[in-house]
Formats: sequence, structure tokens, C-alpha cells
Amino acid sequence: MTTRRFTYLFLIAIASLLWTCKHEAPEGPTATPYNLVIPPFFPPMDIPADNPLTVEGIQLGRYLFWEKKLSGNDAMSCGTCHLPEHGFSDPNQFSTGINGDVGTRQAMPLVNMGWSTSFFWDGREPTLEAQIADPIVNPIEMDENWDRAIEQIDSDPKYDALFYKAYGSTEVTQEKISKAIASFLRTMISANSKFDKQRIGQYQFTPEEQHGFDLFLTEGGSPDEVPGGSFGADCFHCHGFGSMQMTDYLFHNNGLDATFSDLGRGGVTGSIYDNGKFKTPTLRNVELTGPYMHDGRFTTLEQVIEHYNSGGIPSATIDPFMKFTVGGLQLSAESKSDLIAFLKCLTDTSFLQNPAFSDPHE
Ligand code: HEC
Ligand code: HEC
Repeated sequence: MTTRRFTYLFLIAIASLLWTCKHEAPEGPTATPYNLVIPPFFPPMDIPADNPLTVEGIQLGRYLFWEKKLSGNDAMSCGTCHLPEHGFSDPNQFSTGINGDVGTRQAMPLVNMGWSTSFFWDGREPTLEAQIADPIVNPIEMDENWDRAIEQIDSDPKYDALFYKAYGSTEVTQEKISKAIASFLRTMISANSKFDKQRIGQYQFTPEEQHGFDLFLTEGGSPDEVPGGSFGADCFHCHGFGSMQMTDYLFHNNGLDATFSDLGRGGVTGSIYDNGKFKTPTLRNVELTGPYMHDGRFTTLEQVIEHYNSGGIPSATIDPFMKFTVGGLQLSAESKSDLIAFLKCLTDTSFLQNPAFSDPHE
């Protein structure tokens, strides 16, 4: 190869390199990758490849989670219905939207969302990114339209730097808003309850808590009526802790009603076999997340335990794990209170009071 031809090829190589840089490099600074620490016994978290966690993206998400400008009257943020002191849930049976309209479902607690495989009581949204659009445009919730929301955020000077640092440009888009809030939600990890500490040998259950835990993990019903029945509380079939989340992420009918005014999962799949089934909620922070069930019908954990103890109300889709406990769980008063003592071990105050999740606008 002659020297001249070599120089020529060399120049082409440099030119194409420059061309790629110009077209592929981000406009602004590159955001810092966030080092997500997966707690002991937790499975890995599935993070979408097109929304990697970054320190700056999470920070932006935190501002947006608490941003009232994302609602039609600038008076409601995500945090209005998902309050930290209530396990990021709403203490009201139904949440009231900006127009005073009241919904028909209880706000769900936000905790360890990064491990959830579907969202809402009926699981209608498959990803956190997709879920976020729902409350913002929902007429009985934040009742905002995206164009106005984007305009509002765009005209707030504080967001210039936040968007620039997270995404290398000050441009505000629906996609960036959704991605940033989703990233923030993925960092809301609770893994410091007594239950977690017990798992790693840093806490010993009291005898009552231990008994409650044992009941939680034991088959329900009398051995005469139920195969394997051992007079346990039988919670683990659906609120198991394989994923450490006290939910199997599936949909069940836990025997609340004989007929269904809210079809739940059936309303999404259109299958009659799914009517009356709802996503098993996590029991993390359950002490604080009442009222309970999709329609918030129970105000106390005692009422919840009474429901399961009674065996629930039969219907076409009632779960076999409810149906087989003929005559209910038949728990003694002591067993019921021990079960509640165990459920309270799932409260994680360091998570609820973590300053990283609090309102940054204050
Ligand atoms: C007006 C009250 C209200 C506001 C505001 C609100 N939510 Fe919710 N949230 C709810 C209710 C009610 C549900 C359950 C709705 C359903 O199942 O149909 C829910 C469910 C969720 C879930 C599903 C949790 C799970 O385990 O499946 C997530 C995630 C969530 N909200 C995040 C947000 C985010 C992010 C915002 C802000 C963009 C927000 N919410 C604003 C009331 C609200
Ligand atoms: C057949 C599966 C199944 C079994 C067994 C089961 N649950 Fe549930 N649990 C669910 C489902 C599904 C819901 C939501 C139902 C709804 O709202 O319609 C739920 C809701 C709850 C709630 C309300 C949580 C909230 O945020 O509203 C609590 C508390 C609860 N269960 C505790 C228990 C306890 C304690 C046991 C054992 C005594 C138990 N569950 C057994 C499936 C089950």
C-alpha cells in the first residue's frame, strides 16, 4: 500500500469517526449510572434497557413525583394520594381527584415496585413507564393533558437543569417524564423491616411474632376436612415471600363477594374466569396502608383476619386456597393477634422516612 493511499484511508477513518461522534454523542453531559443495591434474598430487578437508572434521572423523577403541575389544577401530585406516612398509600377508602370526583378503588401502597410484574389492582399496565400516564390523565385523578403538563414543566426554570443533567437536553417530553418517575419508583426499596432483619440474623422475633410467622406459613383448616390442613392461617400461598414481597404477583379472588360490582382482572382480560380477581397486594408496611382491599372495605387488620378466618364468601371464581378451608381457618383469639404481631414486623420506618423519597419542593 502506498503512503498516499494509507493517508487517504486514514483521513476517511478519522472523518467517519468524527461523523459518528457528532451524531451519536449526547448533546449535554452524560448522566451518572446509579448503583442499585439489591437487598439480601431479593431477586434481581428487571430494568428496561432503554431506561437505565441514573443518579440524575432519579433526582428528576423525585421532583416530578411530587410535582403538582402534573395535575389539571396544579394542586395534586402523585404524593397527594401516595403518602409516605401511610406506606405511600392513601388513608381514605377512595381517593378524591382534582375535580372532587371519588374513585372506586383504594390507592395502592408504593414499595419495591421494581419487582412488580403488572400494575394496578387489575394489572392492566405491564410496566411502570406505562403506568405513569394513567393517573396524570385520569379525569377522576389528576385530570391533566400531556401538552399542558409538558408546557407547565417546560416553563419552570428549575427543570432546565434537572432535565439537562438527566437527559443531556432541556427538552421536556412525556417519555422523559415517565422514564424519570419510573426510575425514582424503582429506587423506593424497603428492606429494613424486622422481618428483613430477622432473615439476616439481626433481629429475633418475639414468641408472638414467631408464632404469627409460623401460622402465616402453615396450611389452613382442619386435617379432617382439608388435605394437609394443619389449622394454620394459610397466607403464604398468595402472600408468599419467595420474592421477599409477600405477594405472588398473581390475581386471585379471596372471597370478598358473591357477585362482583368491580370485575377486577376480568375487566381487563374479558374472561369470566377472571371476574372478581385482583392483584395480590404486597403486605410490606401493611400496618399503615389501610383501609384494606381493592375497595378499602376493611379499616383494620383485625377485620382482614376475621375475613380470612371466616373462609370468605363462595362464588364462581373463589380461589381454591380459600375454598378448601371449609369452615374457615378456625384460629384462636391468641393466634389472630400473633398473626397481626407478625404482620407488623413488615413495617419499615427507615424506608417511609427516607429523606431521598420526601418532597424536594418543600
Ligand atoms: C387521586 C389519587 C392518586 C394520584 C394523584 C395518583 N395515584 Fe397512583 N394509585 C391510585 C389508585 C386509586 C390506585 C389503584 C388504581 C387501580 O387499581 O385502578 C393507584 C395505583 C398506583 C400504582 C400501582 C401499584 C401496584 O402495586 O400495582 C402505581 C405504581 C401508582 N399508583 C403510582 C402513581 C404515580 C407515579 C402517580 C403520579 C404520576 C400517581 N400514582 C398518582 C391513586 C392515585
Ligand atoms: C387466595 C389467595 C390469598 C390468600 C390465601 C390470602 N390472601 Fe390476602 N389478599 C389476596 C388478594 C387477591 C387480595 C386483594 C383482594 C381484593 O382487594 O379484592 C388480598 C388482600 C389482603 C390484604 C389487604 C392489603 C391491602 O393493601 O389492601 C391483607 C392485609 C391480606 N390480604 C392479608 C392476608 C393474610 C393475613 C392472609 C392469611 C390469613 C391472606 N391474606 C391470605 C390473596 C390472598
